[in-house]
Formats: sequence, C-alpha cells, structure tokens
Amino acid sequence: MSFLLFKTLHVSCAALSFTLFFLRGIWSFNDSPIMRQRWVEVVPHVVDTLLLANALALAFTIEQYPFVDTWLTAKFFGLLLYIMLGSVALTPGRSKAIRIAAWLAALAVFIYIVLVAATHNPLPFIH
Ligand code: HEM
Repeated sequence: MSFLLFKTLHVSCAALSFTLFFLRGIWSFNDSPIMRQRWVEVVPHVVDTLLLANALALAFTIEQYPFVDTWLTAKFFGLLLYIMLGSVALTPGRSKAIRIAAWLAALAVFIYIVLVAATHNPLPFIH
C-alpha cells in the first residue's frame, strides 16, 4: 500500500518537476516577469525535495539502492547531471545559446531518467 502511495507521489512530483523546469526555461529565456514571482523559486524546491524523499522511500521499500543496483546508480547520476545542467540553464550570466543548450540537455537527461526508471536498465536504448 505505502509502495503505491510513494510511487504515485514520486511519479507525480517527477511530472511536476519536468513541467516547472520546462516552463521556467521558457520564462527565463523570454525575460518574463513571472520569473521574479516568489512561488516560481519556492515551488520547484518543494517538488524536487518531495521527489527525492519519495525516491528514497521507494528504494528502501523495494530494497534496491544507488551504488548497489546499477539502474538506481544511473538514476542518481542522472539526477546530479539534471541539477547541474538545470542550474546552468536557469542562472543568468552565461550566453543565451549556452543556457538554451543546457536546458535542452537537461530535458533529455530527464527523459533518460524516466526510461531508466521504466525499464530498470541503465542503458534503456540497448536490450
Ligand atoms: C529526476 C529524477 C527522477 C525521475 C524523473 C524519476 C522517475 C521515476 C518514474 C517515472 C518511476 C516509475 C517507473 C515505472 O513504474 O514505470 C520511478 C520509479 C522509481 N524511482 Fe525514480 N525518478 C527520479 C529519481 C530517482 C532517484 C534519485 C532514485 C533513487 C533512490 C529513484 C528511485 C526510484 C524507485 C526505487 C522507483 C520504483 C521502481 C519500481 O517500480 O520498481 N528515483 N521513478
């Protein structure tokens, strides 16, 4: 029962995280005033914290862990890369071309993480 709850929360937070990151990229690249609203800073942090908390709860429930099971190690490093690319994409200062490239790469990494999750395979393109 709790597995289903953790998983529903984890997947919902993943979908929300993707949507918010996608939108923040568009708003940031268009210099939208929405980016200066307080909730745009706070809500993604709350969502990402919940995403990670439920990830840990799921890992403990199914007794599979990063650095033990390769697909979860891949998800862990994927998440790290997503955070790093996301920070390059959304932090002003660098050229817009670099920020857009980082944004697209972060979106691609996110899709990779979802594919790893769905297949339990660190190389989901190779069977
Ligand atoms: C951006 C980061 C992440 C995204 C987008 C994501 C996405 C997903 C998705 C879509 C599923 C459902 C897969 C399915 O049932 O078909 C899932 C399940 C899961 N995720 Fe994540 N996840 C992320 C990070 C993590 C991390 C860092 C961990 C490591 C602790 C983790 C651990 C798990 C576990 C244990 C499951 C349950 C797999 C199962 O049903 O057997 N996730 N994740």
